[in-house]
Amino acid sequence: MEFTNRTVLVSGGAEGIGFAIAKALGSSGMNVVLGDINEQALQNALTKLSGLGINCKGLVMDVVKPEDWQRAVALATDQYGALHALINNAGVGGKPGPIENNTLADWQWCIDVNLLGVVQGMQAAVPHIKRAGGGFVVNVASMAGMMGVPYGGEYTATKLAVAGLSEAWAVELAPFDIHVAALCPAFVSTKIHLSERNRALTHGQTTKAEEIELPDPDSVMSQVVTNGIDPDLVGQRVVEALNAKEHYIFTHPNYRAVVQQRFAAIDAAFARAESSPIVGHLSSEPLDAFVPQ
Ligand SMILES: NC(=O)c1ccc[n+]([C@@H]2O[C@H](COP(=O)([O-])OP(=O)(O)OC[C@H]3O[C@@H](n4cnc5c(N)ncnc54)[C@H](O)[C@@H]3O)[C@@H](O)[C@H]2O)c1
Repeated sequence: MEFTNRTVLVSGGAEGIGFAIAKALGSSGMNVVLGDINEQALQNALTKLSGLGINCKGLVMDVVKPEDWQRAVALATDQYGALHALINNAGVGGKPGPIENNTLADWQWCIDVNLLGVVQGMQAAVPHIKRAGGGFVVNVASMAGMMGVPYGGEYTATKLAVAGLSEAWAVELAPFDIHVAALCPAFVSTKIHLSERNRALTHGQTTKAEEIELPDPDSVMSQVVTNGIDPDLVGQRVVEALNAKEHYIFTHPNYRAVVQQRFAAIDAAFARAESSPIVGHLSSEPLDAFVPQ
């Protein structure tokens, strides 16, 4: 994978996983453009990257707004001449809890940022990456993109969608030399459990800053996130996986057994369909597979 003197746009790049990926790609020679909703965090991030000798620029943006994406790609191309890569990272944890506790506004916030934000990132960046002759996209999904997470419906819905879209886009964009990967981490020590901090800033939401409820630091969610792996490991792993042209980027190999259980359950369900007198005769119909290679 070519990194030197190429340019990457990282959404939600001011903190957490996005910042770690920006740092790792910048250290590999890329020019970095950070887009983030949090102005103060953005300034801090740019200061840190510059201190490491990384070429970087930033803008305050909300991934929910198409005009903000246009400003982001324009900054990258005006500043560095071309855009070669996108890290579609900005995301929120949604509101974990039982189905009946989540309002449509909760769902809308999560879908707007985690799913439609990613779609808009593709729509804004892909024409530029095509024009540059190719490059790569990493869509930040989650281990929740590999399996349903009870009490995390909104988050599961968006992350399974991002993983599935990444498979579709990998096949669609391969002829343009654009490598597409889905990053699927389990817990990483970031501020994802404090996502409500960004909600008041997000387009279309009415939550006032003083109404924001952050979770108890002793809650299960706070504990599992703060005990997660160091984001820098994720950043370094992304560079390693891009060099190997991986389509699914995993950072927690200990979850392999869990995903295998899900695949085994799906496989067993196919076996039951194969032996069904109603549909079993379709088993031998030939098919083309759309699997990223
Ligand atoms: N931390 C984990 O355990 C974990 C695990 C799997 C996947 N992820 C995913 O990683 C990605 C990054 O999350 P993180 O863990 O670093 O969380 P984080 O809250 O530490 O960082 C998220 C960043 O996105 C920015 N952001 C939030 N809403 C935005 C918006 N509307 N527009 C622009 N920027 C916005 C925030 O300001 C922040 O800089 C998310 O997509 C998340 O779902 C996180």
